[in-house]
Amino acid sequence: VPNKLWSGRFDQPTDAFVEAFTASIEFDQRLALHDITGSIAHARMLSQQGIIDPNECAAIIAGLERIATQIKNGSFEWSIALEDVHMNIEAALTAEIGDAGKRLHTGRSRNDQVATDVRLWLRDEIDAIGTAIENLQLTLLTRAEQEADTIMPGFTHLQVAQPITFGHHLMAWYAMLDRDSERLFDCRRRMNTMPLGAAALAGTSYPIDRHYTAALLGFDQPADNSLDAVSDRDFAIEFCAFAAILMMHLSRCSEELILWSSAQFGFIELADAFCTGSSIMPQKKNPDVPELIRGKSGRVFGHLMALLTLMKSQPLAYNKDNQEDKEPLFDTVDTVRAVLRVFNDLIGAIHCRTERMRAAALQGFSTATDLADYLVRQGLPFRDAHEIVGKTVAYAIREQRDLAALSLAELQTFSPLINADVFAVLTLEGSVAARNHLGGTAPQQVRAAIARAKTKTLRW
Ligand code: ARG
Repeated sequence: VPNKLWSGRFDQPTDAFVEAFTASIEFDQRLALHDITGSIAHARMLSQQGIIDPNECAAIIAGLERIATQIKNGSFEWSIALEDVHMNIEAALTAEIGDAGKRLHTGRSRNDQVATDVRLWLRDEIDAIGTAIENLQLTLLTRAEQEADTIMPGFTHLQVAQPITFGHHLMAWYAMLDRDSERLFDCRRRMNTMPLGAAALAGTSYPIDRHYTAALLGFDQPADNSLDAVSDRDFAIEFCAFAAILMMHLSRCSEELILWSSAQFGFIELADAFCTGSSIMPQKKNPDVPELIRGKSGRVFGHLMALLTLMKSQPLAYNKDNQEDKEPLFDTVDTVRAVLRVFNDLIGAIHCRTERMRAAALQGFSTATDLADYLVRQGLPFRDAHEIVGKTVAYAIREQRDLAALSLAELQTFSPLINADVFAVLTLEGSVAARNHLGGTAPQQVRAAIARAKTKTLRW
């Protein structure tokens, strides 16, 4: 059993169950390479400041690099007795290079170390997630371009409301993701502050240079207050809040895919590669992927609540409670990365059944607003026009015909202001083309929105 790095003041060995209960090595080994990056920068700073000897610094760096190689090739042996990733690596370093290894922890505590490691690790994950969002946005742009003229019903209350284009709908998803990307970017900026140098809580008595270490590690600046530096987990909460909102968005998109791929809607066909069958019903093709994305939003929301609850009421500064920040954060990252990847592939492989979309838009009197707008253009106040069209729709319902299927004579019984040119506005194409202003559903505007999106500089 390896010696504990803090055993000096203890007379009894740790209870075996307590040792396992308090250890985090099973999950925090995931931080290992970032822990090593942080340690190398810390050693460089100690050497530059004359706190450790340059030869010792060189030995520390070489030793840590050898350990990094062992970790990457899977030959490193993790020990529960050494509790966490930080002490496992430090103990291995001392075993590897001798006394110089014992000098690495000068002017540092695991409290500022772990706060730094998690930030370094999350920063890399954030960059990967930001890129994945951007890839998904590009896929949506491509699909929206293909579907800029594809007419479908737009819904409110899940009832047919007005005709829209599928491209416009996809660009709505794009806009949701754009805010998510912006939120993530903002979270990254606020997170990129370095806790190292705070040591346990009060700072350290060595003449450290925190700006130097921060620059080596790519942090924008060292944290301003040592107590806050070791006890702040806002960045993890903020990340989980970003992730929860992203998952809420993807859950809404998934719900629409599930509805649209049902026989009742029949708007789209999901690729076989993204669906599964039933063990009993031979005819089934189930939209498991969007269903799982919808379902996984639940665990991500839960992780956000777990971290908020973890931090609530914690007195300053570090408390061991904080060790519980990792698993929710890790699972949030894993879930979001997997979901973004599979959703991107799913969207790329959707087949649109445009004739079904069109037929659905023809039902439900989706151009009734266009008829009212027509009457307004003929001089009626909108409220009166609304009333007249309501009566026309009631008649059409009794007749079981669409507005465009009524004759001019029938239409004129509701208003003498209606002329033969009304049929142009009652068509689906006329209806969408009329909404031709910034943000509207007209194909021309959808293309303009896509063009604007394409000229935006990439965030990631
Ligand atoms: N494994 C600990 C964590 O994840 C590292 C910091 C422990 N510090 C301490 N004083 N016990 O938070």
